[in-house]
Amino acid sequence: MKIGFIGWRGMVGSVLLQRLHEEGDLERLAISLFSTSAPGTTVSIHGSAYDLLDAYDLAILSSFDLLISTQGSDYTKAVYQDLRDRGWAGFWVDASSELRLAPDVGLVLDPVNLEHLEEKIDAGIRTFSGTNCSVSLMLMALGGLYEADLVEWISSMTYQAASGAGAAQMRELMFQMKAIVDALPEDMNETDPSVLEIDRRVTQTLRSADLPVTSIGHPLAGSALPWIDSEMPETGQSKEEWKGGVETNKVLNRLERPVPVDGLCIRIGSMRCHAQAFTIKLKRDVAISKVEQLLAEHNPWVKIVPNNKDDTLRQLTPSAVAGTLSIPVGRIRKLSAGPEYLTAYTVGDQLLWGAAEPLRRMIGIIQA
Ligand code: HSE
Repeated sequence: MKIGFIGWRGMVGSVLLQRLHEEGDLERLAISLFSTSAPGTTVSIHGSAYDLLDAYDLAILSSFDLLISTQGSDYTKAVYQDLRDRGWAGFWVDASSELRLAPDVGLVLDPVNLEHLEEKIDAGIRTFSGTNCSVSLMLMALGGLYEADLVEWISSMTYQAASGAGAAQMRELMFQMKAIVDALPEDMNETDPSVLEIDRRVTQTLRSADLPVTSIGHPLAGSALPWIDSEMPETGQSKEEWKGGVETNKVLNRLERPVPVDGLCIRIGSMRCHAQAFTIKLKRDVAISKVEQLLAEHNPWVKIVPNNKDDTLRQLTPSAVAGTLSIPVGRIRKLSAGPEYLTAYTVGDQLLWGAAEPLRRMIGIIQA
């Protein structure tokens, strides 16, 4: 199978190549790299040399059996339909949201929906898309409850990392942090200046016209931004919140009988891990031990964190999870609203299970 990558230089693409390298796939598979900017040049990646192919050359693209694009929506818009129109019947796997909700496009998250993906392939579907990262990470964490059809509705309040907005935003977050630190006295010690003076300088820096905000648009360091993506005026949701409901039900193949999923999506100053706090209305009272068992048995990456302070603060944070495939889920307890009301909290790496890993695994599923 001839496999081509477009967008491998970007953040998600780089993580994808890194994962392929770690799994030995880069060396095992016949992979070619495309370039939108420098076709014809040669690059060395993880010890192998690649002659870059032209990402806008439809004839070359259509000689491939599988194309994986992490190049973004604009690129997909520019080439995908033209490729199909000229009769190309290969597999297209896309990280962008461009094709996600088209009826003949499958959403990849095989630990949750492998059977559904296999059915789609058998039915001749050849276009697959990654899912919104908060959705992937929620389903990896709570897959056991969905599989047991125990969820009546769910509210997810998210704490989303800068990486979800993009590489430039991650970088800018660090420059914002640096601007804050630069505004404090160099000889600052534990008592001098007073904490109120520190706070005054921090707030002044965050409100200053000099704070770098070109990419994020607003101060994020030392703050939080309760709107992600565009406005959906009819419902008052942000697009990210709207995606939570639609994409969850599409991954689960239950758009006809959807589970309501809604909540507020908040950008926070973590680098690459999204966190989510869930309120879950169960269809019936289920013991916590049973809930934990269902969650733990669902997939090899989910990990139950006991609901105590020490384990929670050691294991259930972006600093503990970043760069790993682990999906810890904790703070699992019944809410005082009643025995069917459950709360839980999860943290997941937005670039791994939230983006690159489901795409990487799709290669194996397509080849099987
Ligand atoms: N839309 C997500 C975010 C990332 O802004 O965090 C991609 O799914």
